[in-house]
Order: sequence, then C-alpha cells, then structure tokens
Amino acid sequence: MALVTTKDMFAKALNSDYAVGAFNVNNMEIIQGIVEAAQEENAPLILQVSAGARKYAKPAYLVKLVEAAMLDTGLDIALHLDHGEDFDICKKCVDDGFSSVMIDGSKHPFEENIRLTKEVVEYAHAHGVSVEAELGKLAGVEDNIKVDSRNATFTVPEEAAEFVAKTGVDSLAVAIGTSHGAYKFKGEPYLDFERLQEIHKLIPDTPLVLHGASTVLPEFVAKCNEYGGDIPGAQGVPEDMIRTAAKYGVCKVNIDTDLRLAMTAEIRKYLTEHPADFDPRKYLGPARDAIKRMVQHKIRNVLNASGKR
Ligand code: G3H
Ligand code: 13P
Ligand code: ZN
Repeated sequence: MALVTTKDMFAKALNSDYAVGAFNVNNMEIIQGIVEAAQEENAPLILQVSAGARKYAKPAYLVKLVEAAMLDTGLDIALHLDHGEDFDICKKCVDDGFSSVMIDGSKHPFEENIRLTKEVVEYAHAHGVSVEAELGKLAGVEDNIKVDSRNATFTVPEEAAEFVAKTGVDSLAVAIGTSHGAYKFKGEPYLDFERLQEIHKLIPDTPLVLHGASTVLPEFVAKCNEYGGDIPGAQGVPEDMIRTAAKYGVCKVNIDTDLRLAMTAEIRKYLTEHPADFDPRKYLGPARDAIKRMVQHKIRNVLNASGKR
C-alpha cells in the first residue's frame, strides 16, 4: 500500500479494454466513498485535486486524508493535481507529496505549451512524479454543431506526436469533443473517434486522457430537480462512448460532475424529507454512500476496471 505514480497503472491499461478512473476529491466523504468503491472492485485508482479543491480543503488535509484512505483500505493510490495552470502550482504539489501532476498549458500557443510542459516534466521527473499535459481545447457546447471550430480546437494528431517527443510527458489529455460540467452537447453527442484513433496510432506508447467524461445520468439530474433543483437541459457523454475511448489508447477517464450530481441529489432528498434535522452526518453519510455507488458503477460498467488492480 503506497502512493504510486500513474506509470504502472497506465502501462497495464494501455493496450487493454479498460481505463483507470480519475475522480475529483474535495473532502473526506468524497474520498471515503471513492476508495471504498475501488477497494470492493479491486480497481486501480487515481484521486485528483483541482486548484479549487486545493484552496477549499488545503493540501495538508487532502494529503493526510489520502494517506488515511490508503491505511484504511490497503489500496495503492495515485494522488494527482488536476489542471495545474503554471509551474508554481505543479512544483507545490510535487513538494507536498503528490505522485502525479497535470500541467494544463492548453490555453497557450503550441510552443509555449511545450516549453511550460517541459519545465514541469524536468522538475517532476527529478522527484519521481508523473506528468500529464493537455493539447487542444475542450469543446464548449456550441462547438458541437460547428465543424470549423472542431478543427480549430480539437487535438491535431501530428502535433500530439511532436508535443510528446519534445516534452517527454507521461500522458496526454486530448480534445475530441468532451467538455467539463453538465452541459456537454446541444444536439446528438459526438466524439471524434477517428481523430482519437489517429492520435493513438501516431503515439501508441503514450497513455491518453479523457477529460469531461461524466455521463450526467438523467436519473441523477431528475433526482436533483425533484428536490428543488433547477438543472435544465443537462447532457453528458454516453457510457458506450467512454468504453470505446478505452479501446483507443485512453487510459485515464476524468469524472467529477457525476459525483457532484450523485452527492447533491442525496443531500437535497434528505434535507427535503427531514426538514427538522440538522445533524450533518445524517445527510453526508447517505451522500458518501451515493458517491460509492456511482464510483462502483463507473468502475464496473463503464471503465471495465474491476479486478484490474
Ligand atoms: O476540471 C474541472 C473539475 O471538475 C474540477 O472543478 O475547478 O470546480 O474544482 P473545480
Ligand atoms: P466532468 O465535468 O465531465 O466530470 O469532467 C471532470 C474533469 O475533466 C476533471 O478534470
Ligand atoms: Zn478536466
């Protein structure tokens, strides 16, 4: 049981039909729900922390909570920085004991993204930490219907090959049509699998990462709305598309929104049904169970990662 990099997990997942789930964490209940699911499914696991999560919970708490989770479950876990925007935050996370970091230079021009990623790779590798980078921009809902902007923002396969060769990065997040949050597609869901296959063909040894991979299951949106929510028109990535991506080099699948929906639905339900109750354990306990069920569903039915530890 140890904090591990993503290296071995991805080496196993690369030419397989499963992917490792990378779940965003912000507090103890979320961590507990996720690790209990991974333990029961005997699945590899990445817990990831955004800059916002880091600010909310503080790195010292998050690192200790993940250490406690490993002690409690006996699991190996990769603790990963999600969307690090500059060298400084990546360095801080390496120094805090994270085993993996993402440098997201996707908003920069190609050459600057290479320079920045290289700088992080040098520091992180010197400290035994793996690095994910991103090339291409995740789609906005409107990009779904405009083919021109697809070509302008999606990852260009030849650039991906050049980027990996020049940076020495361990894994690469690609833009093929997903986006963050609950509103991913206006019309029919569309992911550019031809592009993904082309990227995988050019860099077959590089594990690919799919951000914005929540499915936004209608029953969870409906449950949130049933208890006083207002989340109209939400739409995520269909589960079969995630399974397809796992066959074309995608080794890491990022999920946050589905956890938020599962947790919030449960809390709304409890508080609506028990308006006189004000013990946080009464609603955070069921919320933790809802996270566990969601993660178990992802690992078993979507990522195909049960028993792959
Ligand atoms: O990619 C974004 C993740 O869902 C994290 O979101 O920045 O609100 O923590 P956050
Ligand atoms: P979702 O918003 O689809 O859950 O994506 C999360 C993510 O990509 C975190 O980096
Ligand atoms: Zn992301």
